Formats: sequence, C-alpha cells, structure tokens
Amino acid sequence: MAQLWGGRFTKETDKLVYDFNASISFDKRLFKQDIEGSIAHVVMLEKQGILTCEEKDAIVKGLTGIRTDVENGTLEITHEYEDIHSFVEANLIDRIGDAGKKLHTGRSRNDQVALDMKLYVRSEVIEITDCLKQLLSTLLTIMEANTDTYMPGFTHLQKAQPTTLAHHMGAYFEMFKRDVLRMQDIYKRMNFSPLGSGAFAGTTYPLDRSYSSSLMGFEGPTLNSMDSVADRDYVIEFLSALSTIMMHLSRFSEEIIIWNSNEYRFVEIDDAFSTGSSIMPQKKNPDIAELVRGKTGRVYGALMSILTTMKGIPLAYNKDMQEDKEVTFDAIDTVKNCLMLFEGMVSTMKFNNAVMEKSAMMGFTNATDAADYLVNKGVPFRDAHGIIGRLVLYCIDRNTSIDALSIEELKEISPVFEADVYDAISLKTCVEKRLTIGAPGPAVMAEVIQKNKAFLESL
Ligand code: ARG
Repeated sequence: MAQLWGGRFTKETDKLVYDFNASISFDKRLFKQDIEGSIAHVVMLEKQGILTCEEKDAIVKGLTGIRTDVENGTLEITHEYEDIHSFVEANLIDRIGDAGKKLHTGRSRNDQVALDMKLYVRSEVIEITDCLKQLLSTLLTIMEANTDTYMPGFTHLQKAQPTTLAHHMGAYFEMFKRDVLRMQDIYKRMNFSPLGSGAFAGTTYPLDRSYSSSLMGFEGPTLNSMDSVADRDYVIEFLSALSTIMMHLSRFSEEIIIWNSNEYRFVEIDDAFSTGSSIMPQKKNPDIAELVRGKTGRVYGALMSILTTMKGIPLAYNKDMQEDKEVTFDAIDTVKNCLMLFEGMVSTMKFNNAVMEKSAMMGFTNATDAADYLVNKGVPFRDAHGIIGRLVLYCIDRNTSIDALSIEELKEISPVFEADVYDAISLKTCVEKRLTIGAPGPAVMAEVIQKNKAFLESL
C-alpha cells in the first residue's frame, strides 16, 4: 500500500477499506493527462519563483521518463498505489529524490483529478468527432450516388409517400451533424482549467493560473475554485451527447434490421458484418446492428449514474465523484466501437435499389400526389382526400394500384381525372416535384449535398 498521506493516522488502513477506496485499477487510464498537468504545474511554479530552474528541470525530466517507461512497458502501473496521482508522485521521488517532493506544492488531488479528467474528456471529444466525421462522409457518399434511388418513406411503419435513398440517408446525416456540433459546444464550454484551485479555496502561493492553463491549451482558468473541484457538468454534458449519438445509431440499427429482413430485402448486410446461427444453417443475422441497439442502454446507464451521483453531494470535492470515471470510460469505449463498426457495416452494405423502388410503387405512396393532382384541377383538398380514399379502397378490393387503373375506371370515381394523371402520379414525378428545401427532389437534394459537403470540409 503506497499512500500520499498517513502522518496523522495511528493505524494501518484496513485492507478492505484500502481496496474499496483505491482507484488505480481504472484511473491509470489518466496517466498521460496526469503527467501533462504536472508538467504544466511545475513549469508555472518555476516561472513564479516557487521552484528553482534546476528543480523544475529535474521534475520535468523525471515525469517524461515515467511517461516513456510506462509507454514502452518497462514501468508497470501496479495496484500497490492508491491512485494514478500517487503512482506518478511516488515514482518521481524514487527517481529524482527530494526535488520530487516539491511537485505537489500549491496543488491538491482535488484540482489535479478535476484537471486530469477534463484533459481526458477533452481529447475524447476530438476522437468521437473524428469517428462521427468518418460516418458522415460515408453517408454523404451514399447520398451522392442515390438522389434518384426511389424508396417508400414511412410513418407509423406504414408506407406513406415516396422518397429517395439519398433523402433517407440525409436524415441520419443531419442527426450525426448535430452530434458533431454538440461535441464542439461541449469543447467550448468545458475548455477552462481548474488547475490551481487547490483543495477548493485556492492557495496562498502566487500561482499564475492563466499561464498554466495556456500551457495546456485552455481558454483560461476557471473562475471559482470551489466550483472548479466540484464541477462534473462537462462529464454529464458529454455523456448526454454520447447518449444522443447512441439513440441515433440505435434508430438507424433498427431500420437496418428491418430493411435486412427476409420480408423487406431493401439491403443486404455484408458477410463480414453478419453472423450465423449454431442450429439454423440458412441464417445470416444482423447481430452488429442489434448489439449497437443493445449497447445504447449501457451508455444511457452511464448518464443516469453520474447524474444520480452528483445530485446530492455538497460542495466542494467529495469522494463520490471518483465514481465518474469507470462509467465514463466505458461509455467512451462503447460509443467509439459502435461508431466504427457501424460505419463499416453501412459502407459495405448492399442496397437493393430495384426492391426498394418496387416497394415504393406498391402501397399507395402516391395517394397524396393523386389528391394534389385533383387540387390542381380545382377540387378542394378535403374533397380530393375523400375521392382518393375511395379510390384506394377500390384498388384494395381489386388488389391493384392507382396508376394501374384505366382512365375510364378513374373517371367513374371522379370525372376530373384526365390522361395526364398517370404522369402526375408516377414515382418519378412524385419525387422530382418535391422541391422545397429539405425535400427529396433531386434538384434540392443536390443543393443540400453541396452544403453538407462544405460542412464536412470545414471540420
Ligand atoms: N481518486 C480520486 C478521484 O478520482 C482522486 C481525488 C482524491 N482526492 C481526495 N481528496 N481524496 O476523485
């Protein structure tokens, strides 16, 4: 057991207490951030005349040596230390002796851990953004190639109106685009350094918090030392944004599972992204999509966990906050994995354009357009709606579609129908005439694709 404290204790820590309290098994993930923060701290201490140049140099050399040795595997982060902060400090003292004992001058583990976690989350915000960018670029490629690939659009999972594959993929593009924007917002809001807040009340050493914050690329120092050590809002915002990403992936997964089913056959997931059954030789299952859908619950769980942990704790630091780490790390790993696998699955998935188009022709997806046709001929919309409703019923009874009826049959239901109706309600016309911005009409779709391309390039 290696601890940073003990002077005022007369007994050894109980073994169970030690294990229960220790965080090294998971906060060892923060070792790079811990070293980065410590280097910024000592560089600032030297600038302020609190450490000599020799002391600073010795500490920085010791810290970078620890980092190199851990990275190349010659130094192992073992569980004999209470946490990553103790591990780094103890190793530093072993390496450089007394100068190492000055590292923690004007610092508490409270501002130290707040900083480490912030540095870690901040770099993950960038990594998650990169994964999202990759997925967005895959979606854009599919969109560009499919502005005239017709498919039915659904409401209530009932065929509603015709659309295109580009339009449907474009809906997901917008969702993941918002996810990227959320990452950017979080970055901006969280990018203030807590280092120099001490235990919670600052310190009497003349620290230059602006300087240390600039060394680590922060916008500036946080402005209340009590809040600085007690704040985990950025973890909550980040987990909330991760939950939203998972919600989007889960909805997309659900659609892919439906589209990949024997009944739909809109898509076929590549063999490399499918799995088989141990008993049914014919099966090819969409397990990756199902797992992504399933793992959504786990990420929501992380958000609920930290929200609940934070709700009842008084200011400033309390040990409850150590619980922020495992769930956040797990959520990050889960989301990155899901985004990467999902991108692989979507980019290799085969779209059965002919099946989708045939499906769009069936199921009266052109009924709204048929009503609009009558409206254009002067029939009030509500009457047109009634006429087409009767027409649909007529077709259902005869197991046919509106465009397969003869002009005589159509005229019997409404004399307003003319021969031009067939063109007006063809799949092509239905889609091409939808030209309001955001709609599937290929002309506006091309504009939207250009805008989204520019967005991706701006990232
Ligand atoms: N392992 C702790 C955490 O993750 C580090 C901070 C400990 N601070 C303290 N005063 N015990 O929150």
